Amino acid sequence: MKGIVLAGGTGSRLYPLTKITNKHLLPIYDKPMIYYPIQTLVNAGIEDIMIVTGGNNAGDFLRLLGNGREFGLKRLHYTYQERPGGIAHALSLAEDFADGDKIVLILGDNIIEGNIRKAVEDFRRQERGAKVLLKEVENPQSYGVAEIREGRIVRIEEKPEHPKTNYAVIGIYMYDNRVFDIIRTLKPSARGELEITDVNNKYVEWGEMTYEFLEGWWADAGESIDYYLKANNLVAKYGANKMEL
Ligand code: DAU
Repeated sequence: MKGIVLAGGTGSRLYPLTKITNKHLLPIYDKPMIYYPIQTLVNAGIEDIMIVTGGNNAGDFLRLLGNGREFGLKRLHYTYQERPGGIAHALSLAEDFADGDKIVLILGDNIIEGNIRKAVEDFRRQERGAKVLLKEVENPQSYGVAEIREGRIVRIEEKPEHPKTNYAVIGIYMYDNRVFDIIRTLKPSARGELEITDVNNKYVEWGEMTYEFLEGWWADAGESIDYYLKANNLVAKYGANKMEL
């Protein structure tokens, strides 16, 4: 299984912190933001990792992370997204890297307290399809929101005004290799992006989407400046990426 960390985009919600640097290079407590999603993949046993970034600071990732030795990796792979065309667009750049394997995609601003080892192991055994991780939240309007009926996800809505549940789809997604075929069929959304929620709904339609609830806290540090602060405080108080909760 291959891991892909997204670290492109504009970071406009954290402006002016992101005026002269990339959001994922900003500190979360004592480390740059991107360290956390990389550690999440490494803790799940994924050692083949690609970073997708863009904008003016792409070279800084190489200087910061090098070959990933700090994480016990032999090497890291990098690719460059020339315009912020959406999460699914960024993922499409990793098709050659994935080379037919299943993948775990993690958004570079998503930080978790625990680990996703069990979910990844379950997905390894899942013959085909996709898996998402859910977390109950107080502000579902900010996220992809899963509607569940009789134990199955029946639809995911992206940032709905009137969410049907409080179950946020967090920024960690597992896909079989057909994800790249799905992305080729997508049309840009109203905000001009290829949406990961459209990818997920395709697997939902096929009846091939599974889910698990994430244990421990989860923070989308790019959601707003308040959540950026919250993520810093959570890491300072409780620590992140623990092997045991
Ligand atoms: O954090 C979970 C949420 O992430 C999900 O619940 C939503 O369904 C999903 O759409 C996403 O929402 P965001 O509004 O938080 O996505 P954002 O535009 O902030 O992008 C998330 C990460 O993806 C960010 O760390 C940068 C990266 N990215 C984003 C875009 C648009 C790229 O690498 N390239 C891009 O073009």
